[in-house]
Amino acid sequence: MASRLWQTSSVAAVVAVTLLIALATLVARMRDRAQVELRRRLKAETDERERAQGVLLEAQRSLAAVRQSEQDLEHALADRQAIEAQLRHAQKLEAVGQLTGGVAHDFNNLLGVIIGNLDLLLDGLGADPARAALVREALDAAMRGADLTKRLLAVARQQPLSNGTIDLNARLPGLVAMLRRTLGEDIQISTSLAEGLWPARADASQVEDALLNLAINARDAMAGGGLLTIETANAVLDPDFAAARAEVTPGDYVVLSVTDTGDGMPPEVVERATEPFFTTKPMGEGTGLGLSMIYGFAKQSGGHLSIYSQLGVGTTIRLYLPRSDYTDASEEALRPDNEPPAGGGETILVVDDNADLRRVVVRRLSHLGYRCREAGSGREALGMIAAGERFDLLFTDVGLPDGMSGHELAIQAKQAQPGLKVLLTTGYAGADLRDAAGEPYRLPVLRKPYLSEELAETIRGVLDAPA
Ligand SMILES: Nc1ncnc2c1ncn2[C@@H]1O[C@H](COP(=O)(O)OP(=O)(O)OP(=O)(O)O)[C@@H](O)[C@H]1O
Ligand SMILES: [Mg+2]
Repeated sequence: MASRLWQTSSVAAVVAVTLLIALATLVARMRDRAQVELRRRLKAETDERERAQGVLLEAQRSLAAVRQSEQDLEHALADRQAIEAQLRHAQKLEAVGQLTGGVAHDFNNLLGVIIGNLDLLLDGLGADPARAALVREALDAAMRGADLTKRLLAVARQQPLSNGTIDLNARLPGLVAMLRRTLGEDIQISTSLAEGLWPARADASQVEDALLNLAINARDAMAGGGLLTIETANAVLDPDFAAARAEVTPGDYVVLSVTDTGDGMPPEVVERATEPFFTTKPMGEGTGLGLSMIYGFAKQSGGHLSIYSQLGVGTTIRLYLPRSDYTDASEEALRPDNEPPAGGGETILVVDDNADLRRVVVRRLSHLGYRCREAGSGREALGMIAAGERFDLLFTDVGLPDGMSGHELAIQAKQAQPGLKVLLTTGYAGADLRDAAGEPYRLPVLRKPYLSEELAETIRGVLDAPA
């Protein structure tokens, strides 16, 4: 009995244990399943969160990109507006320049007649000092008038320029010495000359004039004294720089900068400073032509002018001149001579459509000892050569009627009479000092109006030059 009971209870125990194990296994499985499910959900949630973060990041990135392109657009718009404003300003200056140039050109011719005649009159009045003084006074006034027309032609980008290769570094010490005398002791001058400076292509005397004008402006801005710094440098203007500025061509330039520690200019003065007749100086103290002449000269020379100024700090003005192709920067020196060289009976063919001017030139040349013949147009002049007349020199105005310029006449006349020397003259340059192919004239040019000495020097120089 007892053993049966034992048997029964041990079976029950085994069943119970088995049940327990089965239960435990079931519970463990359920827990595992729950854990797997939990992990799956967790992962799904993490994935979802990461995806959401990714979307958010992407959205933020796109927003930043939109903002950036908005800013870019604003900048581009501002740049464009600035270029448009510069272009309008440049067009305005050009229109004023054209008007000014037209008037100045006519005045130049009138003054040529007046100066030429007064000059001749003066020569004959040696024995009458009282009258000679009157004529000299009239001549002085006419020369001042001629100087003003020259300045107006500079503004109009139409002044006759004698472009050559110049070495700014070599010229500066002499100019600075002159500036020290002109500007007085209150103004210190410091120079910084770039090593290996390229030669520049420009008219040397105009560069000197420009520097003088800039230095005088600087002095006027430094009433209590100050520092004037003159620097030279090479500069490569890249297409980006050029694109951001009206009328600037990319390329190699030689830069002359003049910096002062003066009053500076407010932006509205900077904007108008290169306009002809714009001045902030009291009546009678400034004509307002200084910077406009330099601007006109820079543009006519294929260069550029920039102004940086800060009120109360100072001003830097940079004159960019094109780099010269020639590596040899040696310059010609002018021969000083007291006596104008005389003619030796050579025959000169004088061509000008303005009969008054022609007569004056003929009179002046005859006075110097030359024999003269006259023609009013290129065709007339060529006709004389074709008829067998021979000349030592053809002296012709550039602007002639009947569709043949003085330059074209010169080329045809040289073909018709090989060895013929030629001197062109003009009071009007700009575009017409280039031939039809756009090449600058290679023939010598005398600027109008000129004094007898200049005429005598130049004519002699051309006649004596090797053919
Ligand atoms: N270095 C400078 N510092 C401050 N202002 C200047 C400077 N240079 C020029 N300006 C301003 O620009 C204006 C125009 O200068 P610009 O040289 O064309 O004429 P101006 O000096 O007034 O007269 P002009 O040169 O014909 O005697 C000046 O009146 C002045 O207001
Ligand atoms: Mg000035």
